[in-house]
Amino acid sequence: MDLTPLAARSLSGLLEQVTGQQLASARRWRLETALHPVMKDHNIHSLDMLAAMVAQNGSATLREAVVEALLNHETSFYRDLAVFKAIAGDVLPAMAGSRSDARRLRIWSAGCSTGQEPYSLGLLLAAQETQWAGWSIDILGSDVSPQAVQQARQGLYSQMEIQRGLPITELLARFDQDGEHWRIRPQGQARLGFMVHNLLDAPPPGRFDMILCRNVLLYFSAERKRQVLDRLASAIAPDGVLVLGAGETVMGHTEAFEPHPDLRGMYRPARQGWR
Ligand SMILES: C[S@@+](CC[C@H](N)C(=O)[O-])C[C@H]1O[C@@H](n2cnc3c(N)ncnc32)[C@H](O)[C@@H]1O
Repeated sequence: MDLTPLAARSLSGLLEQVTGQQLASARRWRLETALHPVMKDHNIHSLDMLAAMVAQNGSATLREAVVEALLNHETSFYRDLAVFKAIAGDVLPAMAGSRSDARRLRIWSAGCSTGQEPYSLGLLLAAQETQWAGWSIDILGSDVSPQAVQQARQGLYSQMEIQRGLPITELLARFDQDGEHWRIRPQGQARLGFMVHNLLDAPPPGRFDMILCRNVLLYFSAERKRQVLDRLASAIAPDGVLVLGAGETVMGHTEAFEPHPDLRGMYRPARQGWR
């Protein structure tokens, strides 16, 4: 399958237009492998033809299938364990103190892929059950991909997905076997909800105490990173915590957040800071 530079630009351009994700030229190989099933489903014989159909504003279904195929949903339970340890050991205890009157927590996992990140938070809160008894805790998972959100809602994982990061004790205590898959049970105090949401749009209403937006901004242009970070700043409580992925930072993109002096990847709205 040969792909002309023009066709590559048209296909990766669609992905960027819809989601903000740029396909670096080094990652263009993804086009060929990722789009093969889309071509098969739509009976299209070459990538150039697919690109031409997309460029001529082909059917919405075809454009959605192309975007879906090019998104990177890489994730795992407790991805980057040090971050979850910091949330459990530093961020949540501080919030338990500062919110002890209202006893309410709202957490948003933005770009949650197939749900392992919000469920890891739910598991973590369930492990601190006594601390959170009587609290109202909502965890919202969102992603631009309807397919990823559908799996997240089902909470159904293959053996391979389970093996990535989930301790066996938690698997046995918190999941039910469902054929060859494992289904997570509702966890303790936290209510988990999911929605399809594009980070290029306005954030969901209300203020969040913690926002995780990890491994999503990596491939945004500098301008888009700034826009999205500024939007996240408008959605977070003044003393809330933003958690970014390893490789991501607010530095050089926005003044709206201030990095934690010690905890990697944690930020607070600059107007309040870490005092
Ligand atoms: C690499 S995964 C990271 C998942 C999880 N946050 C983690 O760190 O394990 C990136 C996710 O961001 C989603 N995504 C990409 N662009 C997005 C956008 N504009 N709005 C919302 N989600 C987006 C993708 O669909 C994908 O599921």
